Amino acid sequence: MTGLKMIGIGRALPSRCVTNDDLSKIVDTNDAWISERTGIRRRYYCADGESTNTLIAAAAREALECARLQPEQIDCVIVATVSSNYASPSVACLLQAELGIRENIPVMDINAACAGFLFGIATAAGLLQICGGRHALVVGGEQLSRLMDMTDRSTCVLFGDGAGAAVFERDESADLCVDLGSRGGMDIQIEGVGRPDPSYIKMNGNAVFRFAVGVIPDCLNAVMDKAGLTMDDIDWVVCHQANARIIDHCAKKMGAPEKFYKNIDRYGNTSAASIPLALYDMYKEGLLKDGQKVLAVGFGAGLTWAGALLNIHMGASE
Ligand code: UT7
Repeated sequence: MTGLKMIGIGRALPSRCVTNDDLSKIVDTNDAWISERTGIRRRYYCADGESTNTLIAAAAREALECARLQPEQIDCVIVATVSSNYASPSVACLLQAELGIRENIPVMDINAACAGFLFGIATAAGLLQICGGRHALVVGGEQLSRLMDMTDRSTCVLFGDGAGAAVFERDESADLCVDLGSRGGMDIQIEGVGRPDPSYIKMNGNAVFRFAVGVIPDCLNAVMDKAGLTMDDIDWVVCHQANARIIDHCAKKMGAPEKFYKNIDRYGNTSAASIPLALYDMYKEGLLKDGQKVLAVGFGAGLTWAGALLNIHMGASE
């Protein structure tokens, strides 16, 4: 399978910033517990007029600008989300209409929870190969605040809203190296979506923690094996930002802690948005350079997991 290089990145955050202290006023929690157990210091919630769809559109626009591409140059659109405004039409189709992306190309949402952005990259690569075309827009975006039970301190302190978008270009010089998997179960669930009654995220946190610290190193090693690379060849590792302790544990196990990027303190767990939000911050901090190789790994409800090797080369080719 022909590879992809990442040529543009964008993001959008809602306007309402919620600190741990803010949460301690509405549920029995405190800043010390949240920051020590998870690494989270703040997160963002959508305010009136903001939603998964508005965040995704803003992030996608910035990613296209960064890639120096016009919407009509996009050949495939994938949106990863578990919190779209409507069951149908897809967020991706609404984005297509809003941005003026052309017809006769594949445009769809996927639900692979926190692994969704990487499932989206793999899906886009396959679709470009099957349908033809050069450029894919892959977006992860969530409004998890509307799915939270604000009386359940074991989940409501963890999640936040946001969107990250990336533009990819087919790269004939590289193969796509991914490792994707899933194990059906109910360790994380969102109940009641699409019904008038409230929909809440429920999670068996301890089980998911144990799952994550096992699957992340396995997934990273599987992608490196497929690519014929070792950690020495990798510039950065970007894990889904669910818990700083999960990332630190895996970083130690992989023997290269300095390569593991963390920004969970700023946004909490934003599910499908978390990996592109990390890539965005790395780019803005000057950490991502052309020619670098980034190993990304996501895991979440399903359970799902995904690893992918990302080649960085910002800006579309002539
Ligand atoms: O993106 C999807 C993937 N999701 C994940 O990766 C989540 C993975 N799991 C986790 O990150 C952790 O399991 C949690 C952060 C969810 C929980 O951390 P933990 O260290 O596993 O805590 P725990 O659930 O074992 O709870 C320890 C204690 C309990 O009190 P007792 O029974 O020891 O008295 C909880 O009731 O902490 C209590 N607790 C809290 N205390 C203050 C749970 N939530 C809170 C809270 N504030 N928000």
